[in-house]
Amino acid sequence: MTDQTVIPARAYPDYPAIMTPEQLQVMREKARSDPDAFWLEQAQRVHWFKKPTQGFSGSFEKNVSISWFADGELNASVCCIDRHLTEKRDQVALISQREAEGRSESLTYHDLHERVCRLANALTYLGVKKGCRVAICLPMVSEAIVSMLACTRIGAVHVVLFGGFSAEGLAERLVDSGAVVVITGSMAWRGNKAVPYKDTLDEALRKAGEKSSVQFMLVVRTSDEAVPMLPGRDYDYHDFVDHFEADFVPVAMHAEDPMFMLYTSGSTGKPKAIVHATGGYMVWAAYTMGMVYTPRANDVLWCTADVAWITGHTSVVYGPLANGGTTMISDSLPTSPYPGRWFDLIDAYKVTMLFTAPTAVRAMMAQGEAVVQKRDLSSLRLLGIAGEPISPDAWLWYHDVVGKKRCPVADTWWQTETAGVVLGPVPGVQSLKPGSATMPLPGLEMVILNSDGKAEAGATAGALCIARSWPGQCRTIWKDHERFRQAYFSMAPGLYFTGDGARRDEDGYYWITGRMDDVINIAGHRLGTAEVEDALGEDHRIVECAAVGVPHSVKGQALVVFAIPNRTAVTGVDEKDISRLIVNLIGRYAAPEAVYLVPDLPRTRSGKIVRRLLRKIASGETDTLGDLSALSDPSIISTLCERVRSQI
Ligand code: WTA
Repeated sequence: MTDQTVIPARAYPDYPAIMTPEQLQVMREKARSDPDAFWLEQAQRVHWFKKPTQGFSGSFEKNVSISWFADGELNASVCCIDRHLTEKRDQVALISQREAEGRSESLTYHDLHERVCRLANALTYLGVKKGCRVAICLPMVSEAIVSMLACTRIGAVHVVLFGGFSAEGLAERLVDSGAVVVITGSMAWRGNKAVPYKDTLDEALRKAGEKSSVQFMLVVRTSDEAVPMLPGRDYDYHDFVDHFEADFVPVAMHAEDPMFMLYTSGSTGKPKAIVHATGGYMVWAAYTMGMVYTPRANDVLWCTADVAWITGHTSVVYGPLANGGTTMISDSLPTSPYPGRWFDLIDAYKVTMLFTAPTAVRAMMAQGEAVVQKRDLSSLRLLGIAGEPISPDAWLWYHDVVGKKRCPVADTWWQTETAGVVLGPVPGVQSLKPGSATMPLPGLEMVILNSDGKAEAGATAGALCIARSWPGQCRTIWKDHERFRQAYFSMAPGLYFTGDGARRDEDGYYWITGRMDDVINIAGHRLGTAEVEDALGEDHRIVECAAVGVPHSVKGQALVVFAIPNRTAVTGVDEKDISRLIVNLIGRYAAPEAVYLVPDLPRTRSGKIVRRLLRKIASGETDTLGDLSALSDPSIISTLCERVRSQI
């Protein structure tokens, strides 16, 4: 670990800091001494129909209730569009680069307003009202962003679903959310792989049957192929929407009205929908993006995240637009159709802030330095990352080779549940340490519980918790508040537990050590190992299985599955069947790196599977297995090691 490498603040003439270290300190102190006053002041970053006078109310204790700015009223689409119309009417709000079609589209704030209003009218015509759920499952096209904003204009709760989910996964989420309309695309290209959006949704709706509340589907034609449409249910997006009026009076939302839900993985099997409230979320998006990615004249922020993840919500849509910036989306890949594609796009669109995942940085690194050297990246001023731990080496490569040491790297730690950045630098103000997500933004009070469950000041390591609510904190899990309480507030009374482990060094910098629960992170996509185990558990050909995460040089982590086949089943099962089952039941992103068929799993005497040992065996770390005497049958270990060795 190179904690010792420190890149001093203000070493970046191309990126003038937005404040002095002293001003940042004043903010921190103010937030600490009078949090409500501090957050009410930050709340002024967004436009309110009725300004709030209340800060936080509620508690992390007992049943857990969280409320912010309760007497305020606002509309998220107004915060993102209308309030900029006077000064920035003709400024580009959104650039959508379509690799698949070889073209791009730029929408000004005025254009965006028109498109959003037309769709808000169209959805209203279809019967969508405040509080209804609308599912959005689209590739990276401008309609995805327009759809999110149109929902917020009506007060409908959007549920953006990842195109990589299987029909089964989509069906489960459509039923759970009770979505009444789905907005999708015909298909998309991911590199040279076709992703069949509409077909998968058709299948999902067939599977969901009576349990689904979906009445209508709007289909954006994202390819030339004919799309089978179900009369009465399916409408061609543009044929239908473009006839509606380009004005729509935004619905005034109470700050605590839900704005969107987003499914993510936890340590138990069922995916959970995290619910965010309108006022707190908008303030958080505006505050965190304003602090880390302050847009200035001619800035173009390209956050490469898919819109179906929280980074896509906050760093692609709500954060940049609430701050009046220009945001860019693209359906391209860093290495396809040729290595260095992203660098050409940075030059072509004069991207000034690039925000991506460590996985993409590792993929760029693997292409070699020469690919970068050939390109003109002089437009870049700031580099960002989030989603998974980054090694100091990859951090330094990003900083030195892509950023030419001219651009600060903001490594930001956050979660679907936190809505926006929690740990991260105000670029140019704080010194940077490669591999560290620096420090909490003002207003966030982190606590690290050591192995004895004690919170220590200064340098320490353990479970990363947050002591006090922040406006962007998720309010509940859809239809399961008890699960919300259990998952985040049961570990230590009065604290929100993040699920991550972290170390704080003597300078107060945070180093994330990874998840402490059974959630793994594949190329920035969260996956619960219990999700995989539950899915496979339903197949009678498998007696039992265990899924673990192992380190992977590009994806960060990869999934490995050990399964005990049912020898008495009429039809057998092989490794490929198991892979296929996972892809069909969960989605392509969950495809395992390896599957091992084994006669048994390592267990304690009480029968509990020892996943720690499986992780070590799967990653080849067999000399550090430790004491095996507590296992019910230690001899299984050599069988498993042999199995893994023979398959490599
Ligand atoms: C991990 C993504 C290390 C962490 C924004 C967290 C990170 C989970 C970082 C949330 C980072 C996120 N360094 N690990 N900078 N950022 N993580 O909900 O384990 O998709 O709990 O939100 O990603 O993933 P999610």
